[in-house]
Amino acid sequence: SIQICIVFATFIVFMNLNFKIAVQDGARCYGALGGAVDLQLMDASEIKRFQWKKGGTLILQWKNNQIMSNIIENRSLFIPSNGTFRINNLSRNDSGEYKLVIFDSNGTETGQRTLQMLIQGK
Ligand SMILES: *[C@@H]1O[C@H](CO)[C@@H](O)[C@H](O)[C@H]1NC(C)=O
Ligand SMILES: *[C@@H]1O[C@H](CO)[C@@H](O)[C@H](O)[C@H]1NC(C)=O
Ligand SMILES: *[C@@H]1O[C@H](CO)[C@@H](O)[C@H](O)[C@H]1NC(C)=O
Ligand SMILES: *[C@@H]1O[C@H](CO)[C@@H](O)[C@H](O)[C@H]1NC(C)=O
Ligand SMILES: *[C@@H]1O[C@H](CO)[C@@H](O)[C@H](O)[C@H]1NC(C)=O
Repeated sequence: SIQICIVFATFIVFMNLNFKIAVQDGARCYGALGGAVDLQLMDASEIKRFQWKKGGTLILQWKNNQIMSNIIENRSLFIPSNGTFRINNLSRNDSGEYKLVIFDSNGTETGQRTLQMLIQGK
């Protein structure tokens, strides 16, 4: 099954479906070892540019209505129509801090959202 972690870019809120509550920035997001997780950006259509980073590493870059780079493209999928970034075949190494960095159309950073990913399994 796919765990879902909902991220609002225009509000400082995360929705953790495991607990069905809105939580603050820095929320925990859980994935199952070997499973998949959806990082679901609710208001992606309102954002011109964004990046998903893990630690200091740029994972996914969205700009000019297209994916500019995705270093895990062979096990992930970004669905522009609904802002979902699905990461498949999770390993323990996928645990850690994920950061959404948001930019305006001029490339000026306008905000960040952080979540803590925890990959759990046998
Ligand atoms: C995905 O890409 C990485 C790096 O290019 C490679 O090491 C790995 O074997 C690939 N995995 C699959 C399932 O293709
Ligand atoms: C986003 O689209 C994908 C592919 O169609 C789908 O699997 C996923 O459930 C969608 N997510 C939402 C929240 O609609
Ligand atoms: C999933 O990732 C593991 C390493 O974590 C790798 O050994 C395995 O081949 C991958 N499976 C698929 C279907 O890509
Ligand atoms: C996980 O990280 C360790 C240490 O950085 C590395 O040796 C290992 O190859 C990584 N495993 C996968 C599946 O990426
Ligand atoms: C981008 O820069 C132009 C020229 O400096 C300015 O007129 C415009 O308001 C800026 N757009 C945003 C979204 O800040």
